[in-house]
Amino acid sequence: MEPVSELEPLISSFDLAAGYLDWARFGPLSPAVRAELHADAELLGTGRAAGTEMVAARVEEARELVAQLLGLPTDEVVLQPSTTHGLAQAMFGLEGTVIVPARDFPSVRVTAHRAADARGVLTVREIDPADGIVTAEAVADALDDSVTAVALSLVDFRTGALADLAALRDAVGDRLLIIDAIQAFGVVDPDWTLADVITGNGYKWLRAGRGTGFARFSPAARARIAPVLSGISGMVGDASVLGIPSARDGAAAYSVAPSDPLAAARLATSVREILDAGVADVAAEVRARAADVIALADRYDIPVITPRDAHAGIIALAPRDPSALAAALANHGVTVTARGTTVRVSAHVGTGADTLHLLGDAFADAATSGRVVAAEYGRDSVEADLPAIITIDLPDDDPAQLADAVFEEVAHAEIEEPEVAHAEFAESEVAHAELDEAEVEHAVIDEADEHDRAGDERRDEIVITVVDES
Ligand SMILES: Cc1ncc(COP(=O)(O)O)c(C=O)c1O
Repeated sequence: MEPVSELEPLISSFDLAAGYLDWARFGPLSPAVRAELHADAELLGTGRAAGTEMVAARVEEARELVAQLLGLPTDEVVLQPSTTHGLAQAMFGLEGTVIVPARDFPSVRVTAHRAADARGVLTVREIDPADGIVTAEAVADALDDSVTAVALSLVDFRTGALADLAALRDAVGDRLLIIDAIQAFGVVDPDWTLADVITGNGYKWLRAGRGTGFARFSPAARARIAPVLSGISGMVGDASVLGIPSARDGAAAYSVAPSDPLAAARLATSVREILDAGVADVAAEVRARAADVIALADRYDIPVITPRDAHAGIIALAPRDPSALAAALANHGVTVTARGTTVRVSAHVGTGADTLHLLGDAFADAATSGRVVAAEYGRDSVEADLPAIITIDLPDDDPAQLADAVFEEVAHAEIEEPEVAHAEFAESEVAHAELDEAEVEHAVIDEADEHDRAGDERRDEIVITVVDES
């Protein structure tokens, strides 16, 4: 009998409708997370001490499981409301110079600048490597003796590039390496011991909902990052202690207020799901599904920004016509993040063939929707559902010159290649004109309009309707 893959229970727990490819933005909650949340909420509704304590214990359980997934001691992990809270704990306690990528998510950049402005003991040095993809070389080039820390996302939210943690560690030496792990934790399997600060949240790839943040502070990080944002949950003693208590030992110091046990329960449940499946296998499967997205993009000639040999679940596309692609994806019920000129597609282990089919169909539609496939002369009205209408002036009075004039105008109009592939002017004198086959796919000049053209009421423009081939 074939051994059943350890991944199977995780894969089959993806119970949402086909078409969801936006895990990098938000991960719809797993059934186990939903069930656990309901159960713990019921316990918190009883008012019984045993129930409250049972749920409160989820905080410690979540810390232990996060530490286990990171392969690190539990006392180096502290729960946080979010990734950005974890980054703030690190940045506000830093001195010296921190290097951050100029195009990283604002949680990294902005938090560093806020900390620098607030305390006046930190300088921020931004680096902007080619395509916004951070390499160890780019970091090494920016280092000098003033640099005390380097902070970046392990998986870039925009390009999907997976940074080389080992190479970065080599480059930074014994300076602090601060990693925003939200797009990586649970779906990438690096040696996490290489990073001094690791912070993330479970609401994307872990499917745990918001509020499920965490942070790791290594012994080196704890020695060099002052717990300036330490609050009541990060102090020694309880509320009866007067004066200013010292911060707790370990990562627990970097905490403002007690954690939400319901959030901790969601985090614990989701991390357990990954541990049960095996993070290495999860990571391999996520890479494979993302590679499926790349293969589809290649088939439809959509440029891929993401490095093909260094990615996790995010694939960033730079389509020639982003709005046409975004519209086609929406029409096919495919959920992605479309931002400016790029479309970010993010796949998870549960991304099935049905979802990839929808994606392929959308890509196929977008491949044809931007082409001029029909040119109609002098139409008064065009159907409202056409994707685009381009109106060009008809410059020549001579019917024999019409076709050439049309194509000349088409060539100058702002339409992307390949616009028009074949021209056919049925039953008209211009049908005999020599047309460039590579330019127009199908051009129709209807008889009524020809009549107009021959008479006094000759129209002085031609309407090119851009329509779907299907
Ligand atoms: C790289 C990166 N960092 C941080 C965040 C924000 O995370 P949080 O809401 O946990 O602070 C995001 C959200 O998209 C992100 O992509």
